[in-house]
Amino acid sequence: MFNFKLKTHLVFGAATSEQLGKILTELGYRKVGIILDRGIVAHPQTRKALESIKAAQVAYQTFENDAIEPDYDFLEAFKKPFLNQGFECLVGIGGGSTLDLTKGVATLVTNPGEAISYRGFPKLQHRPLPVVAIPTTAGTGSEVTYNAVFTDAKQKKKLGINSEYNYPVQAILDPLFTVGCPKAVTVSSGADALVHTLESYVHKNHTPVSRMYSTEAFRLLYNNLNKVLDHPQDIEIRGHLALGAYLAGAALINAGSGPSGAFSYPLGAVYKVPHGYAGAIFLPEITRLNVEKGYQDYAALYDLMEGADKKLAVKEKNSEFVKRIAELMTKLDVPKAIAAYKLTDKDAEFLIEQYDVLKAAIDQNPMEITKEDVRKMMTKIFHPGGTYARV
Ligand SMILES: NC(=O)c1ccc[n+]([C@@H]2O[C@H](COP(=O)([O-])OP(=O)(O)OC[C@H]3O[C@@H](n4cnc5c(N)ncnc54)[C@H](O)[C@@H]3O)[C@@H](O)[C@H]2O)c1
Repeated sequence: MFNFKLKTHLVFGAATSEQLGKILTELGYRKVGIILDRGIVAHPQTRKALESIKAAQVAYQTFENDAIEPDYDFLEAFKKPFLNQGFECLVGIGGGSTLDLTKGVATLVTNPGEAISYRGFPKLQHRPLPVVAIPTTAGTGSEVTYNAVFTDAKQKKKLGINSEYNYPVQAILDPLFTVGCPKAVTVSSGADALVHTLESYVHKNHTPVSRMYSTEAFRLLYNNLNKVLDHPQDIEIRGHLALGAYLAGAALINAGSGPSGAFSYPLGAVYKVPHGYAGAIFLPEITRLNVEKGYQDYAALYDLMEGADKKLAVKEKNSEFVKRIAELMTKLDVPKAIAAYKLTDKDAEFLIEQYDVLKAAIDQNPMEITKEDVRKMMTKIFHPGGTYARV
């Protein structure tokens, strides 16, 4: 027996954000608040989306978000102008930070008390305002999940406001938004999606349906991340990445995440490494560790990699898979980006000690990962002379 939940309607395709007004009308919303990521305020698609709302005669007010990976204090201040405005729906247009902020505000408009009091997995007294999500990165998958990630600035911990009430009602994936995304944003958010898809694929709780999503997400993400930096303006490639990120988010929320996602949290909260890079840095080592410990299921994903030699034996396919994941991370300059944060021996020790705190998530990996494994991984990545610190 298993469950698979997907509560978000999807509209996908170039220029679909121009249907926003029509979609809001169909959903019955007459007055909406719109949270715009500062990075896309001047984007032509933003103007066209807003024009469509005007044309549909839906009343709206816009608010600009300039916070990247916001904390609870930011959310608490940001929510104030939304209170008692009579908004029937909130629309978030932006990266994962802005979509999560939109979900956070939607929760606090209908539920009393400070943002920090909803930390974790709160029981909400009231349903949040409905959210329409238009992601402009590809992507966190926030447009299809109930999670909204926020940092506890005092405790330097990334947590969130995570409630089953917080699935967006509608996602609009318009790849025209991601065309022109700068390299660092393309890589960080794309690598984040790859982490989601690989961790949900191997997760102990994966189901036949979540695997279908993880598998197709992997095919789209791996092959197109290999191309996107050479063809950043290619709408088809950007569309494949947007859809891949969405499918990966759906797989993640149904199966779960694992060690790379878990270790990304202290790297992000304490060292300010952007979320996607912070998870992707661990992907090659975790994948290698799994194969070394006898995990074989990567062979099916290997067959989906463009240029794969399908005649290889299962064992060789798994080894080749590990090699290719590491090569992709290098091609995307993930190690170089991480090296710029200049983490030291002391920082590597701090991360090793997080093992005990993160154990529940680490244990979702199909093969056992011991603290000694983590020590070796962190040493390899961060210690002076380690592979990644040396780049
Ligand atoms: N809710 C979830 O399920 C979920 C899942 C994974 C990650 N997250 C969270 O999402 C956040 C990361 O989101 P992200 O990786 O999308 O990045 P982001 O939202 O933090 O944005 C990064 C930068 O990119 C800019 N940007 C966004 N779209 C752009 C575009 N089209 N063109 C130019 N610039 C653009 C933003 O202005 C910002 O400066 C983290 O806080 C992470 O924890 C949430």
